[in-house]
Amino acid sequence: MSGPAAPRRLIPADELVLPVFQAWRRDWFLLAAGDFAAGQYNCMTLGWGGFLRLWDRPVALVAVKPSRHTFGFLQRFPAFTLNHFSPEFRKKLLLLGTRSGRDGDKLAESGLTPMASTAVPAPCFAEADLVLECVQAYADDYRPELAFLEAMAGGERSGRPHRFFFGEVRAVLGDSRYAPPPAAT
Ligand SMILES: Cc1cc2nc3c(=O)[nH]c(=O)nc-3n(C[C@H](O)[C@H](O)[C@H](O)COP(=O)(O)O)c2cc1C
Repeated sequence: MSGPAAPRRLIPADELVLPVFQAWRRDWFLLAAGDFAAGQYNCMTLGWGGFLRLWDRPVALVAVKPSRHTFGFLQRFPAFTLNHFSPEFRKKLLLLGTRSGRDGDKLAESGLTPMASTAVPAPCFAEADLVLECVQAYADDYRPELAFLEAMAGGERSGRPHRFFFGEVRAVLGDSRYAPPPAAT
């Protein structure tokens, strides 16, 4: 889709319509952590994650390496958002996934517009077509010695392994494509 973003509206998590694996593998998400009002936040592109039902709640899972600047924000602030964009934003997501916020204002360079979320202090983005607002519920480190598959045991190629952050989904906002079609009358 090109032109101005279609308006987002609140979608009950149980009604979200999303090709989950395609969204993570092909489109990626932009993870934002921190506090928008305090002006303290950072974002990074994310290809590893998922949506699940745990503890009787809708939960988002993200896998983040401790070396990422965003990791420090996830440790200091309880909330994060996951932002999905239409394919025309791919180049911007590549930029945000290859530069570190530690080294300069990559967000300004990307041209994306951070804005207040509805249910959590972490920002979302005006250009996103889907936003999941989450509050951290649990976190744990990936431990290769517990992996059942050889490929996964060796899957953490360099540096400290990913940490898995589980966030309770507090709000989902998306354009009409992410909501079920109205029931036929
Ligand atoms: C397509 C793509 C997917 C990525 N997926 C992840 C991921 O799932 N977990 C992760 O820790 N880093 C991932 N990265 C790398 C981070 O986005 C990258 O290191 C980024 O520069 C970190 O920014 P920061 O230091 O400002 O937090 C991905 C990068 C790209 C381009």
